[in-house]
Amino acid sequence: MAAIKNIDLKREQEATLDRPPRAYGMMAKILFRGMDIFYGKELTLGKVRVLEILARIPYQTWEISRYHKLSHRFSDPSFVGNSTDLITWSREAQDNEFWHLQVVNEKIREDNVKLNWYKDRVLPVVAVFGYNLFCRFLAFVNIREEIRLNADLEDHAEHEYMMFVKKHPSLDRQPVPHTVSENGGFKTWGDVFRKIGLDERAHMNNSLSRCGRESEVVQPSGY
Ligand SMILES: [Fe+2]
Ligand SMILES: [Fe+2]
Repeated sequence: MAAIKNIDLKREQEATLDRPPRAYGMMAKILFRGMDIFYGKELTLGKVRVLEILARIPYQTWEISRYHKLSHRFSDPSFVGNSTDLITWSREAQDNEFWHLQVVNEKIREDNVKLNWYKDRVLPVVAVFGYNLFCRFLAFVNIREEIRLNADLEDHAEHEYMMFVKKHPSLDRQPVPHTVSENGGFKTWGDVFRKIGLDERAHMNNSLSRCGRESEVVQPSGY
């Protein structure tokens, strides 16, 4: 996980909130609607937890899918180069998403949030199963389209996190435990969630540049 030295997280938050969301495709809208139906429109820690459980799945799918294809196309230098790039980035992104999940879990524990047995225990298992199949199918049929969809999901996540911090100003008065702050140098929970939002922006940009949409990449402002 990258440290936050030299990053003005509040400025990055403003940059996100000033930037309109992407023009989401139909598939992304259906997924957002589904989440809103089951978990409500408002972003809560419980909803974030589920989203972060699901967030790693596309990256896992791409890594596995590319390794399978490399078994047959290992002599195609262009495919090997492209696949190696996708696999390397997918691994990094998976690790980063897992860090998000651990951090959110820590906050849930700290706030003593009561998890619901159905929404937070049963539904995520079903959602992981279904989303896994969906991602594998899409990666098989059209991986470029799946990466484009992922850019929409990451853009949405970035906006949601930055808005979450704006709606909960008390997060900027809440110190983070040593376990969360030691690697990143965070002082408050507000900055932790801003950094997660910024990570989602990086995931979106990396997705865009790998599905032929470099022109839509959001230029960094000090990140
Ligand atoms: Fe995430
Ligand atoms: Fe992400």
